Amino acid sequence: MQIAVLKERRPGESRVAATPDTVKKLIALGAQVVVETGAGAGASLSDQDFTTAGATIAPTAAAACANADIVFKIQRPMTADEGTDEIAALKPGSMLMAHLSAMASKPAMQALAQKGVSAFAMELMPRISRAQAMDVLSSQSNLAGYKAVIDAAATFGRAMPMMMTAAGTIAPARVLVFGAGVAGLQAIATAKRMGAVVYATDVRYAAKEQVESLGGKFIVVDEEKMKAAETSGGYAKEMDEDFKRKQAEAVHAEVLKADIVITTALIPGRAAPRLVTAEMVAGMKSGSVIVDLAAEAGGNVEGCVRDQVTVTANGVTIIGHSNLPSRLGRDASALFARNIFNFVQLMIEKGGNLKVNWDDELIKGTLVTKDGQVVHPGLQG
Ligand code: NAI
Repeated sequence: MQIAVLKERRPGESRVAATPDTVKKLIALGAQVVVETGAGAGASLSDQDFTTAGATIAPTAAAACANADIVFKIQRPMTADEGTDEIAALKPGSMLMAHLSAMASKPAMQALAQKGVSAFAMELMPRISRAQAMDVLSSQSNLAGYKAVIDAAATFGRAMPMMMTAAGTIAPARVLVFGAGVAGLQAIATAKRMGAVVYATDVRYAAKEQVESLGGKFIVVDEEKMKAAETSGGYAKEMDEDFKRKQAEAVHAEVLKADIVITTALIPGRAAPRLVTAEMVAGMKSGSVIVDLAAEAGGNVEGCVRDQVTVTANGVTIIGHSNLPSRLGRDASALFARNIFNFVQLMIEKGGNLKVNWDDELIKGTLVTKDGQVVHPGLQG
């Protein structure tokens, strides 16, 4: 069985879907690994690092895929419409594993089906305990939450912790985090470690205890509605207008007092909720920093421009980087590669043969295309 690891071609992407560590593990399972030349460069991994681990290097994506049963990628392969036809390199009958953004990319999923590729969307991994080690959303969001605070602190023209010096006392920075999921909780933990005073809010009441356990102060909006705001999968539901109004009132004063605001709020399958209005931003102190981690999904902050840093008339910097994990390419690759390795392991028998249990809920949950068709229920109709 052969596994190909391709170079990412989308602008701004530094990650790679295998590391020397996972290459060794795949070889130990009986697989052969072919890595496209330069695939690891953005993550400071050389071709030599991969060959030392036992992989062979292919000069092009097509050469890497020529005999591959399985292809690993970070992001969805581009279609011809996106500038470069990455799907062309894939071999009919092979399997592809990547963060496909499948639900938002129906035409690309149809193109993969037409190509005869069985594509697995890692972002659709069911959120059950057996799948935690395969959950790319968690592993990457965790790093994004950390990096958001680091970016904010680097831009903020003041110190984060309280400092008592002979020349006087510096007050700690006040950080406000919207959304206490995986990214938000890591942002809270990171800001606390740096000495900031941290406030947080979420629509799910379950987040209160988690925020408090990290030393953050939780802003409760409407306890009853918050207790009903979580789906069985642990995600947030879209809230009604009455809640949104109460939430805006509850957080408004905190936004005005904050030095740093980190927003991470997402609702699966929908545009990100608008939580920080232009009016709130206009009332913030000069020198304050906002990092909007929801920029890719439309943004939580009015005035945030995706992939840009904007400075408002009143001196507030709004950072809208859309791919924060890529800014920590080495660690993000290591975690993504482990997630994908843990997943592919489900399909490899002793001796290195491929054996897929199509009834396994992790396989069924992530399988998007098979036998020339788009098969995922979420993409039907
Ligand atoms: P996410 O990335 O979809 O959303 C981020 C956060 O934004 C969530 O906490 C959500 O409640 C919050 N949010 C949504 N709308 C909001 C609004 N209007 N105002 C304020 N906050 C809002 O969520 P993420 O980080 O993927 O995690 C969601 C849940 O899934 C968490 O409870 C987490 O513990 C759970 N989880 C379970 C896993 C497993 O069992 N394998 C793995 C990872 C997470």
